[in-house]
Amino acid sequence: MKKDELLKNIEKYWTNRAEGYSQVNLEELAGEKWPGWLSGIEEHMPKVERKGIRILDIGTGPGFFSIILSRAGYQVTAIDYTEEMLKKAKAGHYAVGQFNINNLEWTKAILLTAQELNSPVILGVSEGAGKYMTGYKTVVGMVNGMMEELNITVPVALHLDHGSYEGCLKCVEAGFSSIMFDGSHYPIEENVAKTKELVKIVAEHGMSLEAEVGSIGGEEDGVVGMGECADPKECKMIADLGIDFLAAGIGNIHGKYPANWKGLSFETLDAIQKLTGEMPLVLHGGTGIPADMIKKAISLGVAKINVNTECQLAFADATRKYIEAGKDLEGKGFDPRKLLAPGCEAIKETVREKINLFGSAGKA
Ligand code: 13P
Repeated sequence: MKKDELLKNIEKYWTNRAEGYSQVNLEELAGEKWPGWLSGIEEHMPKVERKGIRILDIGTGPGFFSIILSRAGYQVTAIDYTEEMLKKAKAGHYAVGQFNINNLEWTKAILLTAQELNSPVILGVSEGAGKYMTGYKTVVGMVNGMMEELNITVPVALHLDHGSYEGCLKCVEAGFSSIMFDGSHYPIEENVAKTKELVKIVAEHGMSLEAEVGSIGGEEDGVVGMGECADPKECKMIADLGIDFLAAGIGNIHGKYPANWKGLSFETLDAIQKLTGEMPLVLHGGTGIPADMIKKAISLGVAKINVNTECQLAFADATRKYIEAGKDLEGKGFDPRKLLAPGCEAIKETVREKINLFGSAGKA
């Protein structure tokens, strides 16, 4: 279906809505046998008008417009655009938290907390977590559905964390908002070549791209980095390839920080920001970084901070306490909805604390 025809069809559908299009009509309209999802359609229209073909499909699930547009070859992101979110954050001197998700409980806890604090939020998905949740399409479906059912109205982005080249392509297809290509383990020339290809692909799909320079220490999903500081000139070179935001190693580490950790290198961060200008910078390894360092990093251009381990530790700790107190043996305390509740509350508390520290509360 051509773009003009498609837009005419959308208009036709909209004007005929009152008379009630049947499911069959909708299928005809989409040019395919496809069940029409009508829920939330009124929500779509203003967004279609505002954004043209780049729909912000916030909180409405896999709606009808999304389906016909994607069938017609347009990228329909399920969620808000990460780039817009981060540009706003950088200009407003706060950072948006990327909280990694592992399952329904994690996603629900993070979305509800962001809504409660009226904060934009990024849901991070590592390749391992994506696989655990049975694949990226499941993740997109779950997040879309949950946003609709929970009435989440704050901007939410769904972002691939530390993606391989192949993983990035899969997330483009699945309808993520943005992807991170982690080419930090490649020689710089190869990192540049692959990043360039992804810049092009991502631009075609109206998505945004994060790239990494200088590997970030610690261990994440089997990827082990040594925690080096990035070379600001390499950062500038990667930034100039057309990426949207940049993760640079500044002595940060995934997971818990060791007692002898030297802290973040603000000298490196400052040099990177001076060379990369407006580009939002990303701080990985948000777990356990002291509040004053977080604030300083934000003042030097960090607009996205990734947190994963801290939610996991909080969840595990609260769940252990529940079991050690024998609560699972009382009444129906073994019911997973009860068993997992203290852990979910602990995730919420962690996310709340971070959102307040990052300064994104009230910025939705
Ligand atoms: P932490 O697990 O240390 O919070 O790091 C998260 C992260 O950087 C994800 O990319």
